[in-house]
Amino acid sequence: MAQLWGGRFTKETDQLVYNFNASISFDKRFYKQDIRGSIAHVTMLAKQGILTVKEKEQIIEGLEGILRDVDNGFLEITEEYEDIHSFVESNLIDRIGDPGKKLHTGRSRNDQVALDMKLYTRDEILELDELLKDLLKVLLRLMKENTESYMPGFTHLQKAQPITLAHHMGAYFEMFKRDRLRMKDIYKRMNYCPLGAGALAGTTYPLDREYTAELLGFIGPTLNSMDSVSDRDYLIELLSAMSTIMMHLSRFSEEVIIWNSNEYQFVEIDDAYSTGSSIMPQKKNPDIAELVRGKTGRVYAALLSLLTTMKGIPLAYNKDMQEDKELVLDAIDTTKGCLTLFTGMLDTMGFNYSRMEDSAKHGFTNATDAADYLVNHGVPFRDAHGIVGQLVLYCIEKNIALDEMSLEEFQAISPVFEEDIYEAISMKTCVEMRSTIGAPGRTAMEKVIAVQEAYLNAETEVGKE
Ligand code: ARG
Repeated sequence: MAQLWGGRFTKETDQLVYNFNASISFDKRFYKQDIRGSIAHVTMLAKQGILTVKEKEQIIEGLEGILRDVDNGFLEITEEYEDIHSFVESNLIDRIGDPGKKLHTGRSRNDQVALDMKLYTRDEILELDELLKDLLKVLLRLMKENTESYMPGFTHLQKAQPITLAHHMGAYFEMFKRDRLRMKDIYKRMNYCPLGAGALAGTTYPLDREYTAELLGFIGPTLNSMDSVSDRDYLIELLSAMSTIMMHLSRFSEEVIIWNSNEYQFVEIDDAYSTGSSIMPQKKNPDIAELVRGKTGRVYAALLSLLTTMKGIPLAYNKDMQEDKELVLDAIDTTKGCLTLFTGMLDTMGFNYSRMEDSAKHGFTNATDAADYLVNHGVPFRDAHGIVGQLVLYCIEKNIALDEMSLEEFQAISPVFEEDIYEAISMKTCVEMRSTIGAPGRTAMEKVIAVQEAYLNAETEVGKE
């Protein structure tokens, strides 16, 4: 048991209490952030004359040594320390002796842990943003390649009207683009430095909080010391944004699973991204898509869990807040993993274009267009609707698509039909005619693709505008 606060205690902590309280098993992931924050802190303390230049140099050298040794595996972060802060400080004192004992001047673990968590999350937001960008690039490629790949668009999971694969991918592009905007937004709002807030009420030392904030790349210092140590809003926002990413990935996964089913056969998941069955030799399962869909629950649960943890906490720091770490770390790992795997699966997935187009035709997705044809030839819409209803019934009985009827068969139901009906109800015409911005028609789609491409090329990095 290595702890920083033995002074006023006359008895050893019970081992179970110690274990229950300790956070080293998960906050050891913050060693880089903890050391970076400490280096900034002592740099500021020396500038303010609170430490001598020599003390600052000794401390920084010691901290850099710890960082190097942990990175190289010479120094192991073991569970004999209560938390990462104790690990770093104890090791520093072991290395450099008395000057090491001055590191914690004008600081509390409350503002220290708030800083570590912010530094860690800030980097993770950048990584999430990059992974979203990678996914958008794959979606943009699929959009460019498939402005004439026809498929059914669905409502109620019933074939409704023809669209293109480009249009379908474009819907997901919009969703993941909004997800990126949310990352940017959270980053901007959370990018203020809590260090210097002390335990809750600042310190009596003449700290230069603006300077520390600047050294660590923050916009500035946080403005209320109580809020600084007890604000977990940015984590809740991040969990909410990650829940939305997972919701999008889960909907997309559900579609991939349906498209990959024997009944649909719209897509073939690459062998590298599928798994087999131990008993049924014919099976090729969409496990990755199913796992992504399944893991969505964990991320939602983390959001609800942290909201619940925070709801009854009086100001300022309370130990309940330590619960944020495992939840947020797991949710970040999960979301990053799912984004990476999903992007790889999508990038390598094969599309069965003839199946998709056939499915659109045989689902009468062009029935609205056949009715529009009649309307354009002077038939009132309500009558046209009835006539096309008869055509559909006829086709269902004969198990054919509308464009597989002969002209005689068309004319037997309505003499208004002419040879040009085939052109009018071809998938190409049905889609091309839908050319208002946002619709699947090629000209509209090409405009949208140009906008999205410009967005991906011009985009500044999160936090760098
Ligand atoms: N492990 C703690 C946390 O994650 C660090 C802060 C501890 N502060 C304290 N006064 N016990 O929240």
